[in-house]
Amino acid sequence: MYEHTPHRPESAHTVACIGAGVIGGGWVAHFLARGYRVVAWDPAADAESKLRQLVDTAWPALTELGLAANAGRDRLRIAPTLEQAVAEADFVQESAPERLDLKIDLLAQIDAATPAEVVIGSSTSGYSMSEMQIKAQHPERLVVGHPFNPPYLVPLVEVVGGAASERWAVDWAAEFYRAAGKSVLTLDRELPGFIGNRIQEAAWREALHMVANGEATVAQIDQAMTDGPGLRWAFFGPCLTFHLAGGTGGMAHMLDHFGPALQAPWTRMEAPHLTQQLRDAMVTGTDDVVAGREVTQLIAQRDRRMIAVLRALEEVDRAETAETAEGGHRHSALPEGATGTEESDVTP
Ligand SMILES: NC(=O)c1ccc[n+]([C@@H]2O[C@H](COP(=O)([O-])OP(=O)(O)OC[C@H]3O[C@@H](n4cnc5c(N)ncnc54)[C@H](O)[C@@H]3O)[C@@H](O)[C@H]2O)c1
Repeated sequence: MYEHTPHRPESAHTVACIGAGVIGGGWVAHFLARGYRVVAWDPAADAESKLRQLVDTAWPALTELGLAANAGRDRLRIAPTLEQAVAEADFVQESAPERLDLKIDLLAQIDAATPAEVVIGSSTSGYSMSEMQIKAQHPERLVVGHPFNPPYLVPLVEVVGGAASERWAVDWAAEFYRAAGKSVLTLDRELPGFIGNRIQEAAWREALHMVANGEATVAQIDQAMTDGPGLRWAFFGPCLTFHLAGGTGGMAHMLDHFGPALQAPWTRMEAPHLTQQLRDAMVTGTDDVVAGREVTQLIAQRDRRMIAVLRALEEVDRAETAETAEGGHRHSALPEGATGTEESDVTP
């Protein structure tokens, strides 16, 4: 399958991390915990001490989650040059600052120093690989591998190639990240901000608008999300969540019922016209996700997960309250007197 490279994604053992700030350092912690050898390079004078501190801070959480058999912080080496960092790498993860000119030059430099059959992933939050790979001699092995902070705890990585990337490199990267324990989402085509960031950014921009217009405070926005929709999105995405908002009629009823609300000014983002084609795409797409489960079954699954999240948050709050004199800030996550077995609320 990967005739372009002798490296197998599942047997990669050395990863080079170029740029070791918040995200690069998070990747380093993740790869170390998963048993890889990691060679890092970062031009900042204090990069090594900061990186080791980041890894030390992350390590208790990673230990609690379960380390790979050969995982160890002693498997991290800081290279004196970029060239030395990538020399023996089976995969390279670039996590330098989000500046297009810098990414273009840095990826060209990494490309020149890295054996041509090694795949290189960029952590960019939103640049397309087509824009970034223009100076590389071997752009075919350059792909985006976009994580979420912190990469050692948030499973998702979005993988997509650019115009000059080849399919084998995208597939190789996806397989490598999967073997490294990530939840991989491969995009079929380039999309500014990818998928996760587009959804997150829509909420973020609306939040900024609301603050700018005095419509909501920062505290109200955060409470609305953490005690509201954010809780559900930890286990059901927005589509499956709204499928249940349609009761037994599911997504089809939800769209017919709330379709007219799309014309209301609930957000600054203009809603697409709810054509028959869009309605059908939403209904059949949701059917695929539902995979034959009855609405009652989904409600039970949602409620169990919601209770698990609420109880886990309460447990953390209790532990923090015990640790500090002032106590935790979060109010009881489960409604007062709730047992967690009540009839489900199916409003969106
Ligand atoms: N912070 C996030 O939540 C987040 C999430 C996903 C993706 N990203 C992406 O990850 C990348 C890194 O972001 P960050 O938040 O870690 O930034 P950061 O500022 O914390 O880290 C950037 C690091 O790159 C180093 N650096 C500077 N110039 C460099 C160069 N020429 N070559 C190599 N390293 C260099 C800096 O010394 C610094 O340690 C960006 O592309 C960003 O968009 C960030």
